[in-house]
Amino acid sequence: MSHYKMAILEEKGFVVLDSYGSPINSSEWRNVSYVDWKSSGDTRFAPLASAYGDIECNGFWHFDPPKADKDGVWIDSQTSIAPTLTKRALEPQANVGRCRIIELQPNTYADALYNSHLDDNNRLNPDETGWVVRCFMQLTDNPDSFMVLREDVNDPDSETRIALPAGAQIVVDSERLWHSVWHQGDKPRYCLITSYESGPELEKWLAANHASSSVATPELNRSFALENEEQARERRNARTAFYGYDPTNVMSEA
Ligand SMILES: [Fe+2]
Repeated sequence: MSHYKMAILEEKGFVVLDSYGSPINSSEWRNVSYVDWKSSGDTRFAPLASAYGDIECNGFWHFDPPKADKDGVWIDSQTSIAPTLTKRALEPQANVGRCRIIELQPNTYADALYNSHLDDNNRLNPDETGWVVRCFMQLTDNPDSFMVLREDVNDPDSETRIALPAGAQIVVDSERLWHSVWHQGDKPRYCLITSYESGPELEKWLAANHASSSVATPELNRSFALENEEQARERRNARTAFYGYDPTNVMSEA
């Protein structure tokens, strides 16, 4: 008994897709309604699909009846403001769970390492159905910002950094890979995050978008990397001491 997982994601836990080619009017992410929702860093979220169609971001298992992160209910008042994003989220024709826009304020590399976490994508997801993964589609043009992925949160050598120009698209098994975003700049970064069920439909869409795990990670200055690693580790250790456990080992709801 196990979930269906896509072979293309098994090697590294992520794939990078072709860039989304068409410009999207920024009103689609500026005019939707946001809720404060603590994720990795200083964030707000605008849901396009939620558990039962309300503008909120709770995990689907919190509701009555609880459900897996699938069969998200589209929120008309949001999708009518963001029609292109909604159309894009529906394009793979795979089952969609949570679908929301994240707003992230600028941070440092150390902040990103401190905030790195695993997602809780498959709670209540029945065996023999598809493993839930996430697609990240960058909205604002932030070529100097990076998605930071690690197989082991404590091992810098397991890190891949993926640049985030507008249209960058990455599909991540975010319950397997530690992840966060290092956002450089002076304005918030926006990104569409969609939970999808693994399966033939999603595999077909990944292939059509030339999904690949071969990406070159841009180099970091060695002393800069060591300094940020050390700072993040100290902060993570202090947080673990405060709580009596590492809260990022308890999978994030975000
Ligand atoms: Fe996450």
